[in-house]
This record gives sequence, C-alpha cells and structure tokens, in this order.
Amino acid sequence: MKKLFTPFEKGSLKLKNHLVMAPMTRSRAIGNLPNELMAIYYAQRSGAGLIVTEGTSPSPEGLGYPRIPGIYSEAQVAGWKKVTDAVHQNGSKIFLQLMHTGRISNVANLPDGLQPVGPSNIKAAGEIFTDSLGMQEHSVPVALTQEGITRVIADFVNASKNAILAGFDGVELHGANGYLLEQFLNPNVNNREDKYGGNIINRSRLTLEITEAIAAAIGPDKVGIRFSPFSQLSDQGAYDTEEVHQTYTCLSSELDKLGIAYIHISTNPEIPEKTYKAIREVFTNTIIICNGLTPETAEEKLLDNSADLVAFGRGFLANPDFISRIEKNVPQNDVDFSTLYSSGEAGYTDYPLYTSK
Ligand SMILES: Cc1cc2nc3c(=O)[nH]c(=O)nc-3n(C[C@H](O)[C@H](O)[C@H](O)COP(=O)(O)O)c2cc1C
Repeated sequence: MKKLFTPFEKGSLKLKNHLVMAPMTRSRAIGNLPNELMAIYYAQRSGAGLIVTEGTSPSPEGLGYPRIPGIYSEAQVAGWKKVTDAVHQNGSKIFLQLMHTGRISNVANLPDGLQPVGPSNIKAAGEIFTDSLGMQEHSVPVALTQEGITRVIADFVNASKNAILAGFDGVELHGANGYLLEQFLNPNVNNREDKYGGNIINRSRLTLEITEAIAAAIGPDKVGIRFSPFSQLSDQGAYDTEEVHQTYTCLSSELDKLGIAYIHISTNPEIPEKTYKAIREVFTNTIIICNGLTPETAEEKLLDNSADLVAFGRGFLANPDFISRIEKNVPQNDVDFSTLYSSGEAGYTDYPLYTSK
C-alpha cells in the first residue's frame, strides 16, 4: 500500500492517513457564521487524515473578504461545533486556519466603523470584491500602534481558545499569501521603525509573539503555521532571496523552540532547495508540503522524507471522494471556477462521487 494511505503519527499528531485537505476560502459563511451547509461540505471531505479549514478571522477587523467565517462570537463557536462534530464522526482531525487579512481588505467588507490595519499605511494595488459595492480598490490600511498590536495578539489568543471550545484539534496560523503576518515579515510592506520592523528579528516578532501566546493558551501541540516564503501574492513584491532564506530559517528555528505541531509550507512559487532543506533541518516536528502535488509526487515527497504530510487543495475541493479516487486511480472532477466564492450549494456540496459508467 502507498504510504499516503497509511496512518501517520509524529509528536502528538495522530492521523488516519498522510493526506491533508489544504485551507480554502469558499465564502459560504453568510453573516460570517459557519453553518449546516459548511458542515456538510467538510464532512463530505473527511476522508482526509487532517482537514485545515478555510481562512477564518480572529476578529471583526480581520474580515477582509465577504462571507468568510469568524471565530470571535458565541454564535460562531456554535456554528463551528457542527463542523467539527461532523468531521470527527469519520475519524478525521480538523485544524482551524486563523486568517487576519490585514491590508488585503476594503472598509465595505468590515463591520461599521472598522478600518483595515497593517504594519504600515501602504495600500495594496489592485481590487477586492465586496458584496455591497462589487469590485473596489483596497483601502489604505491604518498602521497598527503598539496598543493595536497588543490587541491583535489578544484577539488571536481569544480566537484560539474559542477554536478549542468549538471542538477543533488545533489552529493553523495563516502566515502565507500576503495576509497580516506575512505583511509584517515582508520589508516591502513593512517600513516600521519600532521593534516590529527594520530587520529579520523585528519583522518576525509579531508572528512569534502570537505563536507563543497561543501555544501558552491552548498547548503548542495544537498549533501549526502556514508559510509561503517566496510568494508575491497580494501585491507584496519579491525581496532579496538570501534575506527570504534567512527570514524563514530563523523563524522556523524559533518556532521549533516553541514546540509547535507543524509548519505547512506552500510552495507557490517554487522554493529554492537550499531554503526548503534548511527549514526541514531546523524544524524538527511535522512538515506539511502543499501546492501542485499529484498523487505520485506526493508519495515521492513522503518516501524521500522531504515532508511528513502532503496537502491537496483543488483535488479535495472538486472531489468529495478524492482519496478513494486516487486509491483506485480513476478520473477526477474538474474545478468549477465560477462557483469558488459564490454562495449556496452549487459548486460546493454538489460535486458528484465517482461512478463507473
Ligand atoms: C478556492 C481556493 C481558496 C483558497 N483559500 C485559501 C485560504 O483560505 N488559506 C490558504 O492558506 N490558502 C488558500 N488557498 C490555497 C490552497 O490552500 C492551496 O495552497 C492551493 O490550492 C494549491 O494546492 P493544490 O495545487 O493542491 O490546489 C486557496 C486555494 C483555492 C483554490
């Protein structure tokens, strides 16, 4: 049997197989509340050993996109409980991805009176969808003060405690794809002159402070983090390759000291072998790799020990029975791009199971 399908155990993470469903925003949380439809969607995909949920905001201020869920109110905790119960019934584990969108936002997507925030007041180029006004330019973010940063950390801690109350097995910090944590890491969008900007240690400080605070609140074994070291998503721009290498190597080494459960690496775009290997070397717990894998390349990553777990996004999105399809080596459904972020069941819970004709 392929290693993909065998049980996984490392540290305190025990999974029924080596397959992870990658986090995917699907915008079905009307009023930012997780609901029955989402429980059905995740339950359908609970063949995965581990599911990482869609990006979920730790606070009202982090809700940059329409209809993304939150985890800061009692109603949201109750809604997520339906999801975790449904997934656990099939022996799958589930981590909640905590995503604060920071400067990737527009005031129209935030509750009244709130402004997008970021490390600095550098506006992102390009536009973002809003339900009320259609496509809009990103808003100019308000640079967080020290008081604001203290509040953001407290919001992440509160959200993590709520996640545990809602039955999650842990939380994954979204440190990838240009959202708040990566905005602090990237010198192109962080021009702060205080202890949160100016050099690698300072730019890593927010990520490490949040991780440490969450680990203290819910236990380091319940905390993971996602990185995309060379990503230029969300108008951040590239920076010096050696500096990226140093940033993520130092960060991974510090995270290792905190004893967290995993680092989830998104290799979009490709990461130089030197950087990937350095992260793998300094971080001793679980490494999950994601992006553009096929069942064959995923199996290779496990066999050559370059990763402990492999994650798939679009495969799980379009195929509720993704695992049995790859086990049987039968064709997969195509992704319907027109319904990725729409509301309702279409293109969400109605992807068909495989039937041999
Ligand atoms: C519709 C969609 C939504 C996504 N939303 C998120 C998200 O909320 N958080 C995140 O870290 N990555 C997100 N991603 C990226 C995926 O987690 C994953 O890295 C990507 O799909 C590549 O993996 P794949 O080649 O297996 O599809 C999203 C991808 C898709 C297709």
